[in-house]
Amino acid sequence: MEIRLQKVIAGTGLASRRKAEEWIAAGRVTVNGKVVTELGTKVDPEHVHIKVDGKHISSAQPYVYLLLNKPKNVMSTLNDPGGRPTVKDYLRGISVRVFPVGRLDFDSEGLMLLTNHGDLAQTLLHPRYHVPKTYLIKIKQVLTEEQIRQLEQGVELEDGMTGPAVVKKVKKAKLNSWLEITIREGRQHQVKRMLESVGHPVLKLTRIKMGPLSLGDLGSGEFRYLTDREANALRELAEQKQASAENTAQQAPKPKRRVSRAGWARSKKAKVV
Ligand code: URA
Repeated sequence: MEIRLQKVIAGTGLASRRKAEEWIAAGRVTVNGKVVTELGTKVDPEHVHIKVDGKHISSAQPYVYLLLNKPKNVMSTLNDPGGRPTVKDYLRGISVRVFPVGRLDFDSEGLMLLTNHGDLAQTLLHPRYHVPKTYLIKIKQVLTEEQIRQLEQGVELEDGMTGPAVVKKVKKAKLNSWLEITIREGRQHQVKRMLESVGHPVLKLTRIKMGPLSLGDLGSGEFRYLTDREANALRELAEQKQASAENTAQQAPKPKRRVSRAGWARSKKAKVV
């Protein structure tokens, strides 16, 4: 069956469809040894040899993206010198070495992305890219409208003012209440410190969203692979963030950041764990 070339490349997990189109237009893709720059080109992937930058697309280690619902009292790292449980304990059956994208406190729970796509992880983690993260939190008592406004506009913490946040009331009980808070920074214990600064300690914290990803009804301690749609949305987000950062860098009279070529997962890292 004939399929558009960019779809075949994107289907390997190497790049988003948009990125694959850029590679094709830039003359980096060959089909049976010939450079193809025509975006409408259709190929039968079973019967042609496709290379990007001289490398056969099937020889690339595919990228793996996992979404884990980290339970409470589990380290968000892959190992812990203190012998506490880690997220690795929950990745049974995964033979590719994946790394957590960001951290959650030991006593926090919820959405964690793990991947072997190093460039993407770096982009999502870089403070300059401001990927939104939403937390469902249970706090002591109830916030006043003024406190909500303060949190949304920024509060003074010991490491400086926080950026804008969005706070949504979820529900209220006698002694405590539930809120959703979305922030675009990732400082240590940031949500807990923000709430403490307005006098309402956090009693429970669950990350429910990160960029285009949602925890949904994934059970505590369970993981799943991202869908193609989610993986593409994530790659597109990372590409957009990088592109807008490059535009800004070009406008400002600063040295240009070196951008590594998006592409192949390094098979060196793809050890069996
Ligand atoms: N903010 C916190 O305070 N803790 C987390 O685990 C994540 C965000």
